[in-house]
Amino acid sequence: MKISQAIYAGSCTRVERKPSRKLPEFAFIGRSNVGKSSLINMLCNHKKLALTSQTPGKTKLINHFLINDSWYLVDLPGYGFAKLPDSDRKAIREVINDYICNSEEMVMLFVLVDSRHPMQKIDLDFISDLGERGVPFAIIFTKGDKLGPVALEARVQENCNTLLESWEDLPPVFVSSAVSGKGREEILDYIGNVLNTL
Ligand code: GTP
Ligand code: MG
Repeated sequence: MKISQAIYAGSCTRVERKPSRKLPEFAFIGRSNVGKSSLINMLCNHKKLALTSQTPGKTKLINHFLINDSWYLVDLPGYGFAKLPDSDRKAIREVINDYICNSEEMVMLFVLVDSRHPMQKIDLDFISDLGERGVPFAIIFTKGDKLGPVALEARVQENCNTLLESWEDLPPVFVSSAVSGKGREEILDYIGNVLNTL
């Protein structure tokens, strides 16, 4: 899968306000600051398509990017940012839940997890909710440039084992780096294959 065109297509907080063209959507979710917006930019080869920040909580809206005039990448706000007031955290959680439960065009949700750390309870709870709702998802371990290859492999393996404690089979698993471009081809090829099955 090659991305030849990536265009910002709008931001919203409610699914009924998303872009009106009905096209397949691939969405990115994960804890605040895990690297969702950076990964979207890396996939699109476009440094400033999705806004990124060192401060967690940058993305507060659902952002749609139209790819090759035929499908969307969707940048979602991060969950679990401890420093936000409760009311803001709740509002963001509602934005996320509304999108995940009601966006009929979402074909796949990529759940991003920081490759440096063990799986956190908030990620495991989120993934378990997806399972209960039957939402198709894949996992991307991000910031793969921050660990050496041996430590990275060990962490990914450990996190997969943690997942296997509650899941019979692993979902598709990728490792990415927005810095080196690692994972770009694999993720795009996977999206291409899913699009071919629709
Ligand atoms: P919110 O929108 O706040 O939820 O964050 P986000 O998940 O969109 O994260 P964002 O892409 O804004 O990245 C957060 C920080 O991590 C930024 O300082 C990025 O430069 C950095 N970052 C993201 N991906 C990578 C990566 O693969 N490698 C390294 N080294 N840094 C990364
Ligand atoms: Mg973001």
